[in-house]
Amino acid sequence: MAIDLDRIRAETPGVADVAHFNNAGAALMPAPVLDAQIEHLKLEARIGGYEAAAAAKDRCEAVYGSVGRLIGAAPEEVALVENATVAWDMAFYAMKFAKGDRILTAEAEYAANYIAYLQVAKRVGAVVETIPSTSAGEVDTAALEAMIDERVKLISITHIPTNGGLVNPAAAIGRIAKAHGITYLLDACQAVGQMPVDVEEIGCDMLSATGRKFLRGPRGTGFLYVRKPLLESLEPPMIDLFAAEWVAPDEYRLRPDARRFENWENNYAARLGLGAAVDYALDLGLDAIWERVRQLAAGLRQALGAMPGVVLRDIGAVQCGIVTFTKEGVAADRIKAALSEKGINVSVSRPSSTLLDATRRGLPPVVRASVHYYNDEAEIERLLQAVSAIKE
Ligand SMILES: Cc1ncc(COP(=O)(O)O)c(C=O)c1O
Repeated sequence: MAIDLDRIRAETPGVADVAHFNNAGAALMPAPVLDAQIEHLKLEARIGGYEAAAAAKDRCEAVYGSVGRLIGAAPEEVALVENATVAWDMAFYAMKFAKGDRILTAEAEYAANYIAYLQVAKRVGAVVETIPSTSAGEVDTAALEAMIDERVKLISITHIPTNGGLVNPAAAIGRIAKAHGITYLLDACQAVGQMPVDVEEIGCDMLSATGRKFLRGPRGTGFLYVRKPLLESLEPPMIDLFAAEWVAPDEYRLRPDARRFENWENNYAARLGLGAAVDYALDLGLDAIWERVRQLAAGLRQALGAMPGVVLRDIGAVQCGIVTFTKEGVAADRIKAALSEKGINVSVSRPSSTLLDATRRGLPPVVRASVHYYNDEAEIERLLQAVSAIKE
């Protein structure tokens, strides 16, 4: 089904105010997402927070099913948490590493993840190793295969990095992980919502994602997927009386499902907003979304690439809706500020967010213009004209 742009823009109040190309930061929420939250907040104010949660119990429960449908998982394999970092940390720190265990990751790995690897390396003597990239820029799966031995405890990569259009070959990596029985953790934070992501097709054992980016959900929402057989063997790094039941004075019992990674208190309005965002994306269809995102991004890249002084910074054989560039003689922050004055939102991606990749490629801070399906061609034209008008 093709995207009905008129309907979608009519349902996106923010497009009246801004040309929003910061979808990799936080996308504009559609009206149903906004309404779901506001209605629940009003209900909380009217009848009480616990009472409102009880009244919305079925709809809150349905969010697990929606997220499951989005990524091809069972509802019991889904935990709803505050953000992608909490989701990822819960999964990563639940693993038991020992001295000499190898963690294999990608060059374009997200800083927060890499910092966690370094902490575990410091604590227990695990070894962090980076899988080389192909000349096109994505994870080199042949190189990965050659790195495998019995000491590899985890393959952990970012599907789409924070700093550019690269899409890593998540499913090809999954086939290697599966063939060798190695646990595979996928950071799909920038992928979910802009492209089809299916945990069976990819073959990951754990996956983390956020609500506010390409899913168009509320801030402060995220989720974790953990494959059922692995779930039972993972003890979350932090637990409370929701994750586990206190069954005897000196004994607790963990929940059997992925909710062992959650805790008791939650922002139910935001959860309902996340559910509405997932349903909205499912209703449009991830294939249609992905097609339009790629088409808009490809057009933007082509036009920026033809602009004097502009250098495109995206790598990878498959590229997504995140378009990064620099302009000779103009700092990325100045470009962002100049665009902001014209009601155009972009962000700046700094080397420290993806240090290995940025160092290898000698990247300065880059402008990140991330499109989404609700952007239209007129907005892209505005962005192009505004970038072109910025002089040294
Ligand atoms: C690749 C990647 N992983 C994880 C995160 C963290 O997501 P959150 O801010 O929801 O914790 C980000 C945020 O930009 C990201 O780009």
